[in-house]
Amino acid sequence: MGVTFTGCGAAAPKTVVLNDALAQVVDTSDEWISSRTGIRQRHISNDRESLAGLATQSALQALEMAGVAAADVDLILLATSSSEDLFGTACQIQAQLGATNAVAFDVTAACSGFVFGVVTAAQYLRTGAYQNALVIGADLLSRWVDWNDRNTCVLFGDGAGAVLMQATAGEDRLLGFEIRSDGSQNCCLNLAFKSELRELVPGVTLTQGKYQYITMNGKEVYRFAINRVPDAIDKVIHKANLTSADIDWLILHQANQRIMDAVAQRLQISAEKVISNVAQYGNTSAASIPIALNEAVRSGKVQAGDTIATSGFGAGLSWGAAIFNW
Ligand code: UT7
Repeated sequence: MGVTFTGCGAAAPKTVVLNDALAQVVDTSDEWISSRTGIRQRHISNDRESLAGLATQSALQALEMAGVAAADVDLILLATSSSEDLFGTACQIQAQLGATNAVAFDVTAACSGFVFGVVTAAQYLRTGAYQNALVIGADLLSRWVDWNDRNTCVLFGDGAGAVLMQATAGEDRLLGFEIRSDGSQNCCLNLAFKSELRELVPGVTLTQGKYQYITMNGKEVYRFAINRVPDAIDKVIHKANLTSADIDWLILHQANQRIMDAVAQRLQISAEKVISNVAQYGNTSAASIPIALNEAVRSGKVQAGDTIATSGFGAGLSWGAAIFNW
């Protein structure tokens, strides 16, 4: 069995926050943010917009494009690092979709989550275990940034994106992948739990606490991304018996325009083939690749049969690349 990609969708909160507005929150400027990152605005969720709600909207669009009923979905993978429930959010999406026959669970791999999710779903489809899999990337990191920290708060935005993947007896459209982790660099990017000691009864001490805000060593993560991502994509290009000239579109995790440009340059992929919407959304973590893919498909840029190289990278540290035919 092989896999095909038959639908996509995306959703973002209604509220748009421009760079200039952030200059009222922290010591920053539109000039700094746009020249260092390419970001001009981001979507920020309010108290009526939930992770599950946005994820469900994106999934419904993907199902509609594919012409598949919710009841026929076998697997829902939600890639997220900002679950509204530590026990997972995927089951809420299953209920909201009415996907009563699907098993649903979360995959946590930060900004690499969508690529990890696609690769995970492909294993279930290729073995014939399942026919229809929804892979959703969704994150609301505006809830988890320190709005006093200019190093991070200007970077992130909220959103969700989804693809429907289907098993096929025909041509396998996932041409290759490479997914990796390096925990030795874990301290570069964290949304960590901080515990406080509490003596429950004499002799029994437990730890309770809260999640802290996102902390990031931007320079280290930047260095990591521009080294690891081209290597990973290059490996997949070789595994798929392709050359970089065969890549029609490069859809990278939308963290920073400078990273996308540097990766494309290293791979000798021309700037016109780089799909970018970081200016409009900022870094939406696991959602960024499927949101960009959805826009490119619906605008007619990506056509059926086009070869797409994608790569997610971020906390873990983790990174992954995949090449697929749309
Ligand atoms: O999705 C997860 C993956 N994450 C990433 O891919 C992020 C990777 N890193 C980056 O994209 C970049 O490192 C950043 C955009 C985060 C930072 O850009 P940079 O060019 O590496 O800047 P920097 O951290 O070296 O900071 C340069 C200066 C510093 O001031 P001094 O020490 O030179 O006086 C910062 O304090 O810019 C200052 N700065 C700011 N100034 C205005 C940092 N943030 C801001 C800000 N506004 N928002």
